[in-house]
Amino acid sequence: MKILVLGAGGFIGVNLTERLLKEGNYEVTAVDIEKDKLKDIGVFDDPRLRYLHLDIRTDNDTLERETKDHDLVIDLVAMANPALYVEDPLGVFTLNFTENLKIVDYCHKHKKRIIQFSTCEVYGMTAASVIGKDPKDMPCPFSEDDTPLIMGPIKNHRWIYASAKQLLERVLHAYGLQHDLNYSIIRPFNFIGPRIDYLPSEKAGNPRVFSHFMNALLYGTPMKLVDGGKAFRAYTLIDDAVDCMVRIIENPNGACDKQIFNIGTPENEITIEGLAHLMKEIFNEHFRQEGDPDPEIVTVSSEEFYGKGYEDCDRRIADISKATELLGWKPTHDLRSVIYKTMEYFVQQHRARQGQPEPATASN
Ligand code: NAD
Ligand code: UGA
Repeated sequence: MKILVLGAGGFIGVNLTERLLKEGNYEVTAVDIEKDKLKDIGVFDDPRLRYLHLDIRTDNDTLERETKDHDLVIDLVAMANPALYVEDPLGVFTLNFTENLKIVDYCHKHKKRIIQFSTCEVYGMTAASVIGKDPKDMPCPFSEDDTPLIMGPIKNHRWIYASAKQLLERVLHAYGLQHDLNYSIIRPFNFIGPRIDYLPSEKAGNPRVFSHFMNALLYGTPMKLVDGGKAFRAYTLIDDAVDCMVRIIENPNGACDKQIFNIGTPENEITIEGLAHLMKEIFNEHFRQEGDPDPEIVTVSSEEFYGKGYEDCDRRIADISKATELLGWKPTHDLRSVIYKTMEYFVQQHRARQGQPEPATASN
């Protein structure tokens, strides 16, 4: 099978590409405007990998030709960082909807199956938070085909990301209804693992929370709890997530045709405040060395951290019964293991950069 992976150079893309080349009988064309993470995994010497430096916004002829030349298109391209949703809502909408819509059109035109990466953020806020109840008291899992999608008010423009993703899902569904386009949609629930984002002391930007907290542990910057860190998240190890993605790619007996799948680990739920303390605990237990900083944990407002227009998703519990029933998939890593494995990667990179001995990797 010839697979076109758009956004292959990103966190999910590089881990998925590595697995496809290691395990499957696939030829992969990895498309991205970045290639550093692909270089890290040494896939450039694999004859089954072809890297194509292509900006999906600029070269439509090449994008359409590549779509036509492959059996399956996997679309990961997006601006996927909440700071950007607040800073550049129009850029988020244009890339995540308008540019991605071109890919859907090409797949329809050339009758190619598409696997589209959406987000758990399409579910928005919990019903509990909307009626003024405590989401802790009303744990209701989000399920792909039945849960209503609740976005915040227009003035909170963070929601343009989730709305763009949601509209793209609705367009895919309509193409399936009216033109029999074969698509599968994936809604990831907070994957973390090696190669996620970057450390802000090493590269300018405002990445996702694990990177900020990892940066604090290695560089001593404060661990900032936005609005007290009361929001809940449930973290999935990228390896478990990729296991599910491969099953969706394989699509046994067409089980994934025109289907939406949550990929998450509901048991791995924690508040962001709890995450900060757990990361410190695991770092101190397994990785701390003489001279490592001991970062303070502070609270900041979302306006200070992100700017006006931010609103949080208070809680996201994935109902993963569909992936279990249709694909036999279940995640296998608990929260401590997810954090340990992700932390191990960043610590090894950091120590190597500092020319220090790698930590003895005690099993966790
Ligand atoms: P990422 O930012 O690491 O990867 C996105 C990739 O797209 C990057 O490599 C970037 O260079 C590339 N890209 C951006 N603009 C491009 C353009 N114009 N042309 C070509 N390439 C371009 O993000 P990720 O975490 O790997 O997420 C991948 C997809 O999954 C995104 O659609 C994201 O919305 C979705 N998602 C991810 C998570 C998660 O847990 N990581 C959760 C929910 C949704
Ligand atoms: C992210 C991005 O929207 C997408 O990658 C994706 O849609 C989704 O996660 C996902 O991975 O499923 P979010 O989880 O809100 O959304 O992104 P983070 O930046 O990791 O924020 C998580 C929580 O930590 C939020 O409550 C945020 O306010 C908080 N936070 C973030 C802090 O308290 N401190 C920080 O330094 C950074």
